[in-house]
Amino acid sequence: MADTGIENLLHENRLFPPSASFAAAAVATQADYDEADADYVAYWTRQAKERLTWFKEPTETLDESNAPFYTWFADGELNVSYNCLDRHLATGGDKVAYHWVGEPGDTRTITYQQLSDEVNRFANGLRSLGVGKGDQVAIYMGMVPELPIAMLACARIGAPHSVVFGGFSADAIVDRVDDAQAKLLITCDGAWRRGTVVPLKDNCDDAMARAASLEHCVVVKRTDHGVDMKEGRDIWWHDLVEGQSTDAEPEVMNAEDLLYLLYTSGTTAKPKGIMHTTAGYLTGVATTHAQVFDLKPESDVYWCAADVGWVTGHSYIVYGPLTNHTTSVMYEGTPDFPDKDRLWSIIAEYGVTILYTAPTAIRAFMKWGSQYPERHDLSSLRLLGTVGEPINPEAWMWYHTYIGAERCPIVDTWWQTETGGIMISPLPGVTATKPGSATKAIPGISADVVDGGGNSVPLGNGGFLTITKPWPAMLRSIFGDDQRYIDTYWSEYPGVYFPGDGAKIDEDGYLWVLGRVDDVMNVSGHRISTMEIESALVSHPAVAEAAVIGATDDLSGQAIAAFVTLRGGFDESDELLVELKGHVAEKIGAIARPKTIIFTPDLPKTRSGKIMRRLLRDISDKRALGDVTTLANADVVEAITEQAASYADDD
Ligand code: WTA
Repeated sequence: MADTGIENLLHENRLFPPSASFAAAAVATQADYDEADADYVAYWTRQAKERLTWFKEPTETLDESNAPFYTWFADGELNVSYNCLDRHLATGGDKVAYHWVGEPGDTRTITYQQLSDEVNRFANGLRSLGVGKGDQVAIYMGMVPELPIAMLACARIGAPHSVVFGGFSADAIVDRVDDAQAKLLITCDGAWRRGTVVPLKDNCDDAMARAASLEHCVVVKRTDHGVDMKEGRDIWWHDLVEGQSTDAEPEVMNAEDLLYLLYTSGTTAKPKGIMHTTAGYLTGVATTHAQVFDLKPESDVYWCAADVGWVTGHSYIVYGPLTNHTTSVMYEGTPDFPDKDRLWSIIAEYGVTILYTAPTAIRAFMKWGSQYPERHDLSSLRLLGTVGEPINPEAWMWYHTYIGAERCPIVDTWWQTETGGIMISPLPGVTATKPGSATKAIPGISADVVDGGGNSVPLGNGGFLTITKPWPAMLRSIFGDDQRYIDTYWSEYPGVYFPGDGAKIDEDGYLWVLGRVDDVMNVSGHRISTMEIESALVSHPAVAEAAVIGATDDLSGQAIAAFVTLRGGFDESDELLVELKGHVAEKIGAIARPKTIIFTPDLPKTRSGKIMRRLLRDISDKRALGDVTTLANADVVEAITEQAASYADDD
């Protein structure tokens, strides 16, 4: 058994069913599962026809003839920006699309009519620069309203966009621009981050000098700190839209035309340009946004606190919410500026009803302490969501208790850049949740946990997550590299999609995502997920966050090493070290007892907040560290390296 699957170590018995009143008013019900189970293609086709406005309704549905290059609704015609804007204007143009909050404290309220006007003017501006259908546009901006405006304007004229996260370097821009041969770059002079300016335009100057396909750079004035504008090449956004009409004909797009590329940043290999097309993607994000967040567009104030530079922002700040005529909050800055209660003050101010954030943020809130949310009235909240990593059960409980007041359902949503939208999640009015479990595949999605041979594991066992049927919002390929698409996602288990995550399925059929398979350890022949040991550590009252790795060990192959960050008010000590080891052994068994525990002020994270266990393995095994500049907190590496050296003899 040990070499075919992953051990199932941690058991969770707490169960949180939806309240009767929440269930009675819920958008999604058991009937959605039943309908999708009966005929998933018919189910998705109904969603596509009912949720979207088509210029030409499709007669085709799923085409599997060239698998894994699946298509959906391929003879349909539509425009994404038309679906996000125009069709709402006749009756709902005055409705707020975004309550935007700038980091320094300035705000903008943008209605659907205003958003539409700005998108049309910018679309005309883009056309005046000779950008049209099929031209690729790179976007490198902070979290300002012009970012969704730029994306929607691209969608309007049929120019696929490629958003590069504003925290990346010039090199990242160049790699992505070269791969897609983008001809235009859209940026800001700078972005606000904790009161200082991130010099976006300077990075673009560096990139423009190297990326030969780029012709122009359009620049939003945001920080006004003074930048070089190169005559003939660089254009201010405000000059480009000056005098442009608020009418721009939307391009008629085919359902399978490319909407955007989004690169998943490999730390070593070349980034993959994930391709999302028009109709299937929009169907997926509109459906999941409505169902999973129980969206009541007439009354909800919805806030996805991600960055638009990630897929979460694409799908659940821009395309899903706007298609569904939602009122959203969009915030420019970090959650700890000017103080650690910024999110909670914004929720109270705007009466936010739905909050969607990441486990890494929740663990930070937990570390800072409950006094920050307690300063504010959070009673408007009625639903909470998480995405991005497995959530440790105790972080889930903290979110439930201090943010949700034990009243709000939590939707733990598993999905990927590649899947386009949410795949595994509770439906908040239907599913009884368990802290730490993403529960079950949503209606229309089929997931399974299999062993190394591709056979379904019995309930109660661990293995590898697979998606067994195609779905509308799926990636269509990797830009320019169909073979890599086949090799990465469709070759491990022929005929099914392999996301690269470990998972277990419990006795009730609930799915527990255990993290990336690369992070699984092999301890004395047992495959153990780092996630379960981390969750055991986080269940100790002193621990805010933990990262576990398999360190090379002559005796057991890999020895369990844990890096632990303490909650505010707790101090490092040898006693605590011993106690934590015992705590893990007690929670999940002696096999999981860490050999080494190292206290550290922070853990190395990617810019999207995922813990970088690979880097910890390198530190632990004293390998040369690769490029650490892609980390969100590169300075922590030195601190951890020093700590690790001083703990080297610990046992
Ligand atoms: C992880 C983010 C457990 C997972 C939308 C996946 C999760 C990767 C969850 C994709 C979750 C995301 N529970 N793990 N709820 N959500 N992941 O492409 O390993 O940035 O494969 O997309 O994040 O990350 P990506």
